[in-house]
Amino acid sequence: MSNPVLMCKGLAKTYLDGATKIEVLKQMDLTVHASEMIAIVGASGSGKSTFLHLLGGLDRPTEGTVILNGKNIHQLSEAEKCRARNQYLGFVYQFHHLLPEFSALENVSMPLLIRGELDLKVMVAKATHLLEQVGLQHRLQHRLGQLSGGERQRVAIARALVAEPVCVLADEPTGNLDPHNAEKVLQLFFELQQARQTSVVMVTHDPLVAKCAQRVLRIEDGRLIAE
Ligand SMILES: Nc1ncnc2c1ncn2[C@@H]1O[C@H](COP(=O)(O)OP(=O)(O)O)[C@@H](O)[C@H]1O
Ligand SMILES: [Mg+2]
Repeated sequence: MSNPVLMCKGLAKTYLDGATKIEVLKQMDLTVHASEMIAIVGASGSGKSTFLHLLGGLDRPTEGTVILNGKNIHQLSEAEKCRARNQYLGFVYQFHHLLPEFSALENVSMPLLIRGELDLKVMVAKATHLLEQVGLQHRLQHRLGQLSGGERQRVAIARALVAEPVCVLADEPTGNLDPHNAEKVLQLFFELQQARQTSVVMVTHDPLVAKCAQRVLRIEDGRLIAE
């Protein structure tokens, strides 16, 4: 198999609630190869979002390492970490983190603007194409505040994919979508998997979505268990 795209070893996260320690994750190991699709399932509060945030370098682990494209992401400076994330990862947050005052098109263009390699016309064309692929061609100029929950979720997915990440980390990407749009998003993931060997790690509650993955892992009692 090819080199892993993303890997974690001995990953652990403990929160402190006053004097009480909450051990959310204990000793998680995972290796993600190119073009793999992995579903993460588990009860609410089991630590799925925490795990994804650690994998994406958005939060610091209490212990353990995360290797993204050969580098320990938690040893990078803040600026290097941002660059690595922008270059290799596409993150679909559970609660979107979009910019409400900006249009759908501007939100989706943002990762490309940050990367700063393309001219504006190309950026707009790429962002428009992605929004078309998630069925939002008629909402390009709408401000985020004017969109429904499901539409916002699709904007978040378009934003995560626009800069052609090697790995997509998606936190319940179909959680607010009707079956038709959920299917469309999965189809998009499959196309990227085929065309660019994009790997996808997604948290999901939906058994049908999990069934599409090559591997399903459950977080239980702070550990990762193969289903
Ligand atoms: N910043 C935090 N401080 C303290 N506890 C937290 C924090 N973030 C999450 N938790 C706790 O960690 C557990 C896992 O949360 P989370 O990863 O969001 O679960 P899931 O995504 O599986 O529903 C929950 O019990 C939650 O209350
Ligand atoms: Mg969650």
